Amino acid sequence: MSLESDDFAQFERESWERVASHYEATWSGLTRPFIPHLLEAARVTSGTRLLDVACGPGYVAEAALALGAEPTGVDFTPQMVRLARERNPRIEFRTGDAQALDFEDDSFDVVAMNFGVLHLPDPEAAFSEAHRVLRSRGRYGFTVWARPEESPGARIVEEAIESHADRDVALPQGPDYFGYGDPGTCGRILGERGFDRALLGFRTVSVDWQVPTASYVFECERDFGVRTGALLALQTPEALAAIQAQIEESVQAYARGDGFALPYTAHVVTATAR
Ligand SMILES: C[S@@+](CC[C@H](N)C(=O)[O-])C[C@H]1O[C@@H](n2cnc3c(N)ncnc32)[C@H](O)[C@@H]1O
Repeated sequence: MSLESDDFAQFERESWERVASHYEATWSGLTRPFIPHLLEAARVTSGTRLLDVACGPGYVAEAALALGAEPTGVDFTPQMVRLARERNPRIEFRTGDAQALDFEDDSFDVVAMNFGVLHLPDPEAAFSEAHRVLRSRGRYGFTVWARPEESPGARIVEEAIESHADRDVALPQGPDYFGYGDPGTCGRILGERGFDRALLGFRTVSVDWQVPTASYVFECERDFGVRTGALLALQTPEALAAIQAQIEESVQAYARGDGFALPYTAHVVTATAR
């Protein structure tokens, strides 16, 4: 299916285009701390030809360059690609779809995707494409959010939404927000897409998201969130106020220094191309 004809992809691209200029000041504090774990698990070193898929402002590519790797980045949101080029003029960034990569077969040693999976209409098409552009025995690495039971920050948001939001609202249908969160599923699906099931890597990592105020998490989700932001935008003012109050109250338990340190957990998945 082309991106243009997919409601979820259109929704994603329009949303990211709108929030891209705020990403560095908001979500990057949450997503970037996972990148060293991702690059280490994918064994990125000097000279590794790496493709950063769903690159956003290009943080994975940037971190790979600092290790001496040879990164390229791709994202389907033009504003993200502009930001990535501005941040890192030495790296090539292209506009393109993770599910239909505009690169030759066997072009990379590593394909990495930091928190892209939940934003794709068809994550498994992206797995196949990663496999196609990897050389034989090349490595694929991606991160996915752990379910709220394992991730205090995600649990705070999820519980407030569960308590007060109406989920029965019209939103474009995306993949499971917490999909691919167990090694069995990852091994089976990646195995079907050309990766060596026996060499699956699956690590669970927690990092603290440092936020300045108790209202910050709610405000980020409401103003700069994509999937959660769209859900919040369709709630009544009363429901929204109740969600905000519950999140702010729960965040208090994580006070540290001048702000709050909220633990978020993700899985770092790695696979080797057969
Ligand atoms: C949560 S951000 C992750 C950005 C970055 N990887 C990071 O570590 O912070 C998700 C990114 O996925 C991109 N994206 C969503 N759907 C995509 C698709 N079909 N193809 C390529 N990029 C996509 C969005 O434009 C956005 O930049």
